[in-house]
Amino acid sequence: MLIAGNWKMNLLPHEGMLLTHEICEGMKSISPEIEILICPPFTHLAQCSVIIESDDARISLGAQNCDSHEFGAYTGEISPLMLVSMGVEYVIIGHSERRVLFNESNEIIAEKCHVVLEAGMIPIICIGETLEERNAGNFEGIVREQLLGILRNEAILESILNSDIVIAYEPVWAIGTGLAADPDQAENAHKFIRSILNEYLPGQSDMIRILYGGSVKPDNASAYFAMPNIDGALIGGASLNVESFLAIAQSA
Ligand code: PGA
Repeated sequence: MLIAGNWKMNLLPHEGMLLTHEICEGMKSISPEIEILICPPFTHLAQCSVIIESDDARISLGAQNCDSHEFGAYTGEISPLMLVSMGVEYVIIGHSERRVLFNESNEIIAEKCHVVLEAGMIPIICIGETLEERNAGNFEGIVREQLLGILRNEAILESILNSDIVIAYEPVWAIGTGLAADPDQAENAHKFIRSILNEYLPGQSDMIRILYGGSVKPDNASAYFAMPNIDGALIGGASLNVESFLAIAQSA
């Protein structure tokens, strides 16, 4: 079970440090079988990494994005190699906010996935449909297309065979809205996603963690975690508060 906090563009560095300290402290009440991941903004990563190491806490560190190149004239971008050198293990790729607000296509997301894997990190690949797409009965087509953007790429598939990926199913209409998906609806989506993974990665698909994301809170989390194909959560708003984040982790 993987419980991942996506802080998005929130918290000043000193607030992020405090939250990291509090999570390290609270880890003592979390079962060792639960993996806890925090994904702070880039500017906080180095300090968070030092806190996690000095507390010897079982917390993994992730970034929210990275560039698809290793080095070069890409003003304002962050290289996957820079992230690795700071102790980052996971990178969120293709969050719907990046797809919509920053025009990231399935092709760009595939390139990022490839460099993240090449750098030895684990991509958390976000997929999910908008409300219009769901209402138009287009859910399966959209999710399939987003996944195949990754799985049809032979170089990526080869890297995945020797590594690990995480999928986050995040229906766009559930993100930050309080309108969480019904747990059965989420389980059906996860089952569908696993069936596509199975077509391309037959020996591996059962091991790939599929997280649910979208308005996960302490009072609804356990209903998701009871589902056989839900292997954790990607949490936005509720990850900014130590009590709610740890309460979700405890319910896992
Ligand atoms: P939310 O965000 O938990 O605030 O809905 C989830 C996400 O964007 O990953």
